[in-house]
Amino acid sequence: MTLIFAHRGSSGTHPENTMLAFKEAARVGADGIEMDVQLSKDGEVVVFHDEKLERITGSSGFVKDRTLKELQNLNAALHFKGKVANERIPTLEELLKWLCNNYLFCNIELKNTFFMYPGLEEKVIRLIREYGMEERIVISSFNHYSLVYCHQLAPEIETAPLYRDGLFMPWVYARAIGGSAIHPSIRSAPDLIIQSSMKAGILVRPYTINKELDMKRLYSLGCSAIITDFPEKAKIIRASFEY
Ligand code: G3P
Ligand code: CA
Repeated sequence: MTLIFAHRGSSGTHPENTMLAFKEAARVGADGIEMDVQLSKDGEVVVFHDEKLERITGSSGFVKDRTLKELQNLNAALHFKGKVANERIPTLEELLKWLCNNYLFCNIELKNTFFMYPGLEEKVIRLIREYGMEERIVISSFNHYSLVYCHQLAPEIETAPLYRDGLFMPWVYARAIGGSAIHPSIRSAPDLIIQSSMKAGILVRPYTINKELDMKRLYSLGCSAIITDFPEKAKIIRASFEY
């Protein structure tokens, strides 16, 4: 069965990367969640997508230049004003504490292509181990050097390269860098790549799958998982498929 991962939580209907969006993903019965992490000025692992604060919080500057306290004074639900109250930017630790009480899989994306965030890999791995979540986590990144480093630090934790443009035999590449899955953009995930990867034992979780037609194609291929902004819709469509 194709698993459904809620992209930045249920971000199509709730403020992305907030506890509200992750709890909604659990409520609708997603199999997993995806989230983005960066480091605050004082070295805390925070859950936030853009390097810049502007789009989500309306504040200027970068995540990396604010302390956790300063970040948590911002409203991560600005676009949902009038619909939801203020939402704090969560820390990874807060999220892992919550995950301990449910069965969701979790894809932690390291946002370390623009800023490298030295020490991010060690901190994320330490938290995953502290909460005993090694079996339920996959670490992904567009920074594949960082993934190799994660694999060296923690070979027991799954890693998966994210990529947007076509790769030649990505299942060979993924294995070469210690990965056990690939996370391609939808446009780099034709049937043959998905089938060949899965046949080679490399899981495939394309992003961001919001259209019904794409969902149906991936379900019928038996793709390992999809990453979607609309887990509730994805579940309804999946229910019409027999496994
Ligand atoms: O992990 C899949 C997807 O989240 C990667 O792109 O920009 O949405 O973080 P982005
Ligand atoms: Ca992401």
